[in-house]
Amino acid sequence: MAKLRQLVAGNWKMNGTAASLAEIDAVMAGIGNARCDVAICPPATLIAQAVWKSKGSALMIGGQDCHPKASGAHTGDVSAEMIADAGGKLVIVGHSERRADHGEGDALVRAKAEAGWRAGLLVVLCIGETEAQRKSGETNAVLSGQLAGSVPDGATAQNLVVAYEPVWAIGTGLTASSDDIAAAHAHIRARLAERFGDGAKAIRILYGGSVKPGNAAEILGLDDVDGALVGGASLKAADFLAIVAAAV
Ligand code: 13P
Repeated sequence: MAKLRQLVAGNWKMNGTAASLAEIDAVMAGIGNARCDVAICPPATLIAQAVWKSKGSALMIGGQDCHPKASGAHTGDVSAEMIADAGGKLVIVGHSERRADHGEGDALVRAKAEAGWRAGLLVVLCIGETEAQRKSGETNAVLSGQLAGSVPDGATAQNLVVAYEPVWAIGTGLTASSDDIAAAHAHIRARLAERFGDGAKAIRILYGGSVKPGNAAEILGLDDVDGALVGGASLKAADFLAIVAAAV
């Protein structure tokens, strides 16, 4: 099957102040001829300014998390509707750092994904196994369970992107081997097809975990890899643009 149009998305995590908006300018300046869709998810404090800066550019801005509810007494939380109101086009849900730091389980991630759809956002839903789960041969079972539990009914290529992020490869400099990435992505594709039928063939599956300029071309060239979710290397425009340039 022909490659889907890839998505390279930067997840700035809890990094970035107003000064970092210069990186958004530099990314915008560098993606004129990009072969892929490009997004940056800055911290919530910068979403509105990043959107304002990127008006008229192909760069999409998004959030890193959202609350399941649209509004209410939830101190410190941000709703999907607020992200959309600020001009965001996408939201990451189910990142392993939220699953670990905030005890988020599949049911909550599913509710957050539904909230993203309710607000008209593209949902980037993260799944991935820990090192212990991989070592004990549970990777496919973990991925199947997370997909079943956290992807809501009604997923389409227009409203969902799945990000495979092996937890042990995040921020560690370790990447899964090409064989392991291809195997995990094929497994995810098969589970999506079982549940959502032929339309699932066009749901993009991103790889995330220590993607860098030096390994991006190999990873992005793999079967069933439809883009990358980039943490550390998305903080500097030059590195991020080198990854964008490696899209196929
Ligand atoms: P790193 O690219 O820093 O490993 O982070 C990956 C990630 O968690 C993206 O969401």
